[in-house]
Amino acid sequence: MNKAVIGLQWGDEGKGKIVDYLSEGFDLVVRYQGGNNAGHTVIVDSQIYKFNLIPSGVIRGKICYLGQGVVLDPNHFAKEYDQIITKIDNPKIFLSSNISLILEYHKQLDKINESILNSEKKIGTTSKGIGPAYQDKVGRKSIKLYDLKSKKTIEEKIKSIKMFYDPILENFHESKINIEQTVEGLVDFYGKVKELIVDNSLIKKQFKNKKILFEGAQGALLDLDHGSYPFVTSSNTISSNVVIGSALQVDYKTLGIFKAYTTRVGNGPFPSELFDDVGHYIAEKGVEIGTVTKRKRRCGWLDLVSLKYSCEINRVNELCITKADVLNNLSKIKVCKSYNSKKYLDVNFSESNILNSMSLDETDFETFQSWGDIKDLSSFETLPNNLKNYILYIEEYLGIPIKIISLGPERNQTIIR
Ligand code: IMP
Repeated sequence: MNKAVIGLQWGDEGKGKIVDYLSEGFDLVVRYQGGNNAGHTVIVDSQIYKFNLIPSGVIRGKICYLGQGVVLDPNHFAKEYDQIITKIDNPKIFLSSNISLILEYHKQLDKINESILNSEKKIGTTSKGIGPAYQDKVGRKSIKLYDLKSKKTIEEKIKSIKMFYDPILENFHESKINIEQTVEGLVDFYGKVKELIVDNSLIKKQFKNKKILFEGAQGALLDLDHGSYPFVTSSNTISSNVVIGSALQVDYKTLGIFKAYTTRVGNGPFPSELFDDVGHYIAEKGVEIGTVTKRKRRCGWLDLVSLKYSCEINRVNELCITKADVLNNLSKIKVCKSYNSKKYLDVNFSESNILNSMSLDETDFETFQSWGDIKDLSSFETLPNNLKNYILYIEEYLGIPIKIISLGPERNQTIIR
């Protein structure tokens, strides 16, 4: 069965490692949304791989496909591709012809959008031009990969885009769109990647009978519609977008991934956030620094209320917990089980003001005892009892089996139940 691997929190749950781990059993790994705002580091045999766009399945020689729901920055993709070809022989990477491009002006507009908001309203985007690129897609102004076949088409499109955006860019003292430079850049890029582009009409034939692993980017709580708007990313991150974003009409099961605690980069509500030494300790021990922006991630206890919501909106079939090893030496470990005694069905997660107004007290938490160092990774049974209790409590609360336990960045630090 095909599988979608989906982050259930605010991103950075460890999807890259799990996709790498699972991809052995699949033929094709597909990204269906987001762009180079995502980022993951995968460590295999002490070799470090960093990816933003290309699925980590590429390390195992799997076919990797970026579907039409992705927004692609040509300069970034070219750099990532060049790095990959120095490390991996004949990587099998394909791009949907229907992908919308992120160009320089999208990054300028991202910066402008943020600059006009006062500090508590700023989204804290990755500044990669993601929002403005999706805005153009919805506004029917995108330059698509298929447009790059014709220099004339690029020129025509960029001329009208220039008319639309130059007044804004000028108003904010940003450089105006340079038609010649943009067109030449895109023509060069096309020369480099044209062999990787698959016409959307051929996708089904090309990938017929392939077993597919879909790799989500960001997390369910950053979903444009289901997350705490406007502190969200600009795509639908949840599993129902798999089919639209890939243009592959297939059935799949959903594996939801969550960290044993919660993190968030950027602004927006975070009910179980820790502002004390424990929060700093988790951030440091868990190396909670954004892969893309190098910003420190905000840290908090595991939030089962939002996790239950994420499981529901993603129709999660099975779960994977990551990074419980980070909490090993804390004397007490807590999980948030309600917001002001409210359970997930009573909370509106898509309105940031509502989520922001949640102030939690002790009765909203369940406390667990330290599980100490984990010495044996051979099976669930050999884990310390306190960790087993933690996992079993979460499983019971969510009503979904936790099938994968990841206790370190290496492939062999993974327990399958
Ligand atoms: P954007 O996606 O760059 O527009 O940023 C919107 C929000 O999503 C910001 O809070 C970012 O920090 C957050 N975000 C975007 N991509 C990721 C990711 O891969 N991991 C975690 N947060 C992300």
